[in-house]
Amino acid sequence: MSQIRLIEVESYEEMSRLAAETIAAQIREKPDGVLGLATGSSPIGTYDLLADACAKGELDFSGIRTVNLDEYCGLAPDNPFGYRYFMNEHLFDRVNIDKANTFVPSGTAQDMDAEAAAYEARIDAMGGIDLQLLGIGHNGHIGFNEPAEGFAPNTHVVELAARTREANAKFFEKPEDMPKYAITMGVGTILRARRILLLGGPDKAEIMERAAHGPVHPSVPASALQLHPDVTFLLCRQPPRAK
Ligand code: F6R
Repeated sequence: MSQIRLIEVESYEEMSRLAAETIAAQIREKPDGVLGLATGSSPIGTYDLLADACAKGELDFSGIRTVNLDEYCGLAPDNPFGYRYFMNEHLFDRVNIDKANTFVPSGTAQDMDAEAAAYEARIDAMGGIDLQLLGIGHNGHIGFNEPAEGFAPNTHVVELAARTREANAKFFEKPEDMPKYAITMGVGTILRARRILLLGGPDKAEIMERAAHGPVHPSVPASALQLHPDVTFLLCRQPPRAK
């Protein structure tokens, strides 16, 4: 029996408000805690609200540590299409976090397998993830864990699925710049987080339903979340309002 709470809300704004409240409560409860963070369009509104709360002095990130899910291979931290850059722009540069306590896997390490092992060890050394924020791909991917033969236990390097490359190529100036490989937390890494919050828009309704209530199978990586005791899916019925 799936224990996943699937909560539907009307708007992207409402989803962002609920997600930001959950993260803010986690920060207040454990000011030196570890947040697992995601990039993509789903969490942008949440990060905006967290940044606003911090600017108003309502939230203190000074002791918070973060680990991101993933990064494209080959993209340096200052590459505007990379995930370190995204996180700086949408959250880290806007709150009073110590950047030295923010971790995104390196996409340019000499030895990517060693980087993956070191990233996993770092999460353990930090005491594990208190709250992991996720988005979901149309194919059920979480992080860059694509449909596969099995659930990956740890941080690793992956070849991106054709559909994911198509979906993400629009973010690159030239579609051919879209990387072929990424480094990502494994499904196992994600499942070791103490709490999980997944966000999705209306185009994800079907895959969120399958992930929450369909068979647990690596052909839908997010279905593994059914094995975790504390997972909430927030699904919004409308995309963000155009600004
Ligand atoms: C991002 C990530 C991806 C996205 C997913 C959904 O760090 O790991 O799994 O969460 O592709 O992306 P959006 O939110 O753009 O629909």
